[in-house]
Formats: sequence, C-alpha cells, structure tokens
Amino acid sequence: MTSPRTSRIPYPKDDDGARRLVYGADYNPEQWPREVWAEDIRLMRQAGVNLVSLAIFSWARLQPTEDTWDFGWLDEVMDLLHAGGIGVDLATATASPPPWLTAAHPEILPVTATGETLWPGARQHWRPTSPVFREHALRLVREMATRYADHPALVAWHVNNELGCHNVYDYSDDAAHAFRGWLRRRYTTLDALNHAWGTSFWSQRYSDWDQILPPRLAASHPNPTQQLDFKRFSSDALKDHLLAEREVLTEITPNTPVTSNFMVMSGIKGMNYADWAGAVDFVSNDHYTVLGPQNRDELSFCANLTSGIAGHRPWFLMEHSTNAVNWQPVNLPKKPGDLGRDSLLHVAHGADAVCFFQWRQSAAGAEKYHSAMVPHAGEDSELFRDVVALGHTLDVLAPLAGSEREPARVAILFDWDSWWASEQDSHPTSLLDYHREALDWYSALMRLGIRADVVPAQTTDLNPYDLVIAPVLHVVAQPLAKELTRYVEGGGHLVTTYFSAIVDENDHVWLGGYPGALRELLGIRIEEFGPLLDGDTVDLDNDTAGSLWTDRISVDATDVETLVHYRTGTYASRPAVTRRATGRGTAAYVSTRLGVDGLAALLPRLLAPSGVASDLPEAARGTVEHVVRRDSDSRYLFFVNRGDAPAPLPGLSGEVLIGPSAGDGFTLPPGGTAVLRQPNPQEPLPPADRSA
Ligand code: GLA
Ligand code: GLA
Repeated sequence: MTSPRTSRIPYPKDDDGARRLVYGADYNPEQWPREVWAEDIRLMRQAGVNLVSLAIFSWARLQPTEDTWDFGWLDEVMDLLHAGGIGVDLATATASPPPWLTAAHPEILPVTATGETLWPGARQHWRPTSPVFREHALRLVREMATRYADHPALVAWHVNNELGCHNVYDYSDDAAHAFRGWLRRRYTTLDALNHAWGTSFWSQRYSDWDQILPPRLAASHPNPTQQLDFKRFSSDALKDHLLAEREVLTEITPNTPVTSNFMVMSGIKGMNYADWAGAVDFVSNDHYTVLGPQNRDELSFCANLTSGIAGHRPWFLMEHSTNAVNWQPVNLPKKPGDLGRDSLLHVAHGADAVCFFQWRQSAAGAEKYHSAMVPHAGEDSELFRDVVALGHTLDVLAPLAGSEREPARVAILFDWDSWWASEQDSHPTSLLDYHREALDWYSALMRLGIRADVVPAQTTDLNPYDLVIAPVLHVVAQPLAKELTRYVEGGGHLVTTYFSAIVDENDHVWLGGYPGALRELLGIRIEEFGPLLDGDTVDLDNDTAGSLWTDRISVDATDVETLVHYRTGTYASRPAVTRRATGRGTAAYVSTRLGVDGLAALLPRLLAPSGVASDLPEAARGTVEHVVRRDSDSRYLFFVNRGDAPAPLPGLSGEVLIGPSAGDGFTLPPGGTAVLRQPNPQEPLPPADRSA
C-alpha cells in the first residue's frame, strides 16, 4: 500500500461554510462525574475546540460484561458535544480489553520473546493475531458503528489507538501460527524460505512449516532474516487488525472517514507507516518531544516524514502535549512559547489538525501527571490561557486548511526495512542508530537554511528532487538499485552513506565488494568495514572528524573524485567521501559518521552540482525554519525562529496572517512564528498521487 488517494479530513466549517483547522483533544469523560461534562463543553467552546476523540479507553464501561451493553452515558456525551458544536472522532474503543474478557480468555494476552505473559492491569494487553480477541473487538466495533452511524456529532472513526505502542512484538502460539501463514504467502515453498533465510547456516533447514517459530529467546543470535521477516510480519499483523476494524466501519458507515493514530516519533520503530498510509482515509500522527539537543529538529523531522507518508496531502495531528508528559525519566515542563510554536510547526508541515492528549488532566490513573488542555489547576491558569490563545491563532490560519506542503528540492529517504535490518545484532557495530543518522542530515540542512522533504524510500517518486540523500540505506533490492541508477543517469544527484546498499531484501550480502548494489553507480569498492569504538574519532582532511564507522575504499572508476580523505586512522590517506559523475547526474558516498557539524561543513560541496541553495536570507539561516504550503491560489510561507536572537527577514512581502507586519521584510523575535500569504504564481499541484 502506498499513500492514501485522498485526504478525507473532516473539516469543521465556519458560519459561511468555509473550512476551519481542527482543534481538540482526546476526551475521557468517563473519568469524571456528569457535572463536569457541561463544564467541559463550556471550556471547549471558550478555547475554540471543534473536535474531540472519544471513547478510546471505554470498552469496560460500554460492555460491562460479555452480554451487557451500557451506551447511555456515551449517548449523553455525544449529544452534549453536538449541541456544543463539537465534532467527534469516535474511537472503536478496542484499545484496552476489559477484565472480564482477559479473565475468560487469557489466551488473548501477548507473550514476550522470553515466554513471559503481559498481564492485564495497564492497556493494550492483546495479541494482534488472536482470533478470540479479533472476534470480540469486531463485535464491539459493529455495536459502536451501528449505534452511532447516524449521530450528527460523528465526523470520523478512530480505530483502536496507537496500534503497536505496547504490543507490536508478540511471540505467542497465535503469533507463531499467523507468522507461518504470512511466510507461506511470502515464499510459497519451503525451499524458497530456506533459501531466503539462509538456513544452510547453523543447521537451521526446515522440513515442515510447523517447525517455524517467531524468533523467541535463543541460545545465540537468532537467524537475521527470520528476525527481519518477523518485524515485517508484526507490522503487517497490526495493519491487518486496522483493516479488519475498518472493513466493519465502512460496511456500516461508508461515508464516514476512518483513521488510526500513527506514532511517527523517535523511539517507535515497529510499524512501517509508509505501508499503512493506504489503510486510512487520512493520516493521523501522535508526536511527543523528548529531551535532547535536537528535539525541535526531531519534531520537524517527524512532522515532515508524516507529510511524506501522507503523500504531502494534509494530515491530522491527533496527539501531542500541552506541557510535560509522564513517561520520561524526568518530565520537564515546556518553556513559555513552546506550546504555540510546536503546534504551528506541525501545521507548517501539513497538519490541518492540532489535537492533544488530553482535554482534562486526570485526577487518577497512570497519566495523572501528564499535562492536558485543562490542567489540575483549572481554567485559571497560564496553560489554559495559552490553550485559548492557540485556538484563536488556528482560527486566523483557517484559510490554509486543505493546502498541501510544497515539495522541497532535496529529499531524505527514510526506509523501515533499512532501519530494522541495519540495527540488528551480530553486525560490525551495535552502535549504529539509523534514525539519528537521518535526523543529523536533516539538522545539517536546516542549519544551512535548506528545506528538505523526508520521504519513504519505497513509495516516493524521486524525479521532482534535485538532490536525494539516502543515509544508511542498508537494504537495497534490485528494483531500488535500478531506480537510483536511473535517477542519477537522468540528472539527479544522489548522496548515500556507510552501511548502505549492503544487503538485498532477504538480508543477503551483495557480493564482490561493498556497497554491492550501488558499487557501480558510486564507482567505489570497499573490501572491509572499519567501525570505531564509542568515543573514538578519525580526522579528515577537510578539518572535520568521523566517528562510528570508516570504510576501506578503493576508487574503481576514473570519473570518481575524492572530496575528502581520511587523515588519521587505519585508512589514513584513503578516500572518505567520494563523488562520481555519471550520466547527467552524480552519486556521492560518505563513509563515516560526521554528525551535524561535519555534515553542515561538507554539505555545500555535496549540494554544489545540484544547484540547490537556501531561500532564506543569510542572517536567518540556522535559526529560522522555513516551510511552505500552497493551494491553487496561494502560497503560505511559514517562518519559525528557533533561536535566542531576533532574526531579520528582509525583502519579504505578502499578507501577514500571523507575525510581525511585513512592509519590506521584518524581524522575527526569538521563538516567534510568522505566516505570510502570497499569490501562487505556479500551476496548481496535480491532483494525481505523486507517489502512486
Ligand atoms: C499516547 C496515547 C495516549 C497517552 C499519551 C501520553 O499517545 O495514545 O493515550 O497515553 O501517549 O503521552
Ligand atoms: C565459535 C564457534 C564458531 C563461530 C565462531 C565465531 O568459535 O565455534 O562456529 O561461531 O565462534 O567467532
């Protein structure tokens, strides 16, 4: 599956029938007495909230026993919300099975690789492949859909919640059974599986499908292809659950769009969302910032990738936080201004909805110290005033609802197969961090003021891009190798890095010298890897340093230029960064980890052949993030000052939607955001799917 064909975001409308941006939260009224509900609606209206996600964790309340249902309270809440003009993204409520179900059917509980059961008492304690769970879940979905099909508050369906947040890897007997079925569909014959898994190694040859297991705790390294396939299978099993719920929903309410909240954020790697996008009517994402020096780059990177997954159509920010979360080792509050700026950064990258977990901060339960739109302190709080102010800002930005993110000239390829495979055990290093490498390239481009798109490697048309960066593109099957070669020969500029193009789709090494699948295109040959110990570095002759990885590179072709040499280390005086001119384009290779500083120093040389340059004034580069959205009439220019000093933006004109007034440019204060509207001089974006 690729990107959704259309984005069916349920836009609220103003009195004139024009689209508004969505503003809202998860709403958990079952945690509160009835008196609070009316108060909630009053405050939601005050804040400009126009949508809530409801009933996400309500299963035990809606179906108190196997044969009894209690919808009365939810009917009342739905009616109240509708009367208040607030739409409902109604959950199917299947996220957390009730105690009666797990007591009667403990065989739905997930099992870890070491054979431990994950017991009830938290949430998401269900096996994605359990037929018993599936049956009970779909029964609930059918009840929900039938009951609320015609309710006027219903605007969208919210399947389950954050599928795979806690239960992506299940090693139970149900999983073993479903894994075998998945493998039969993938390989058809045992011979093909034995070949793909390389089972001649360590006497692993299977003579019957029933001998195959998930990669449970083993005596030594489990078979790498078995592990990789189990990751693919586990993502597919959850997608299958999404599709099963969706099928019931679309049967009963064909006109109500269906979504499920993805988790494109650091630390979550189990679900191949590029492959899930086609399973929803609009892409939704949850994002939480984590501590660290690059955390705002990471926010931008993830919002950008979500846009890439959505085929650059508008998407839906289903959850982020107004303030601190409760699940990091130390949960810092946001700094003044972060709430609005973080929200607008998502909007800049194509979010047409800004929603939070959650509406009212819980008084009890595991998330009572997690922030919300209404904090424990109540409406008389700085936080609630910020929430109200953000509602006003989103009203002002209503004209951009439905606009698409304007493609950049540079793409960073992101690939789940490569992420999964490159970080497996028994490799040259266990220190490789796929996400961090991709993020570093993004940070370095931002530092130079260059816009880039982060896009799924398998489903994106590369043609529109002048420069494609493929960090640690570890898994390169023949079709992708051909596509990258065609791209370069046709005039594209490719940059790839260490540990790229090493294996095929079965995790078998391309032989004859690394990086086998792209060796010819790059014009280099690597005979051995030289990983570095944690903390060790090598000097390069452009006065930067490499870490993590080095390669012993020989240059194969005469048209290869060595841009940078190693100055120290095992490979001193050999090439560290190369570039081959071939066809009408170039293909460059970076053999070590340079980090943000090193990449920012190198990038001007890598960018040169493509002619890509910053469209920000010099003084704003590195502090101002610039993103553009557009529709057939207008371009919406976002400028976000992420630095501590005022940023001058001379020579800008346009209608100021938010920010300092622009005459002939303006100065953006620290933390400030400006959005300008200009007429769109270009052809409107084609309605066709760019990534079909
Ligand atoms: C996830 C879940 C929410 C809540 C938040 C807390 O996003 O979907 O229910 O637990 O995390 O950050
Ligand atoms: C041991 C084993 C070999 C091989 C090597 C790898 O010596 O006997 O089969 O696994 O380790 O270092």
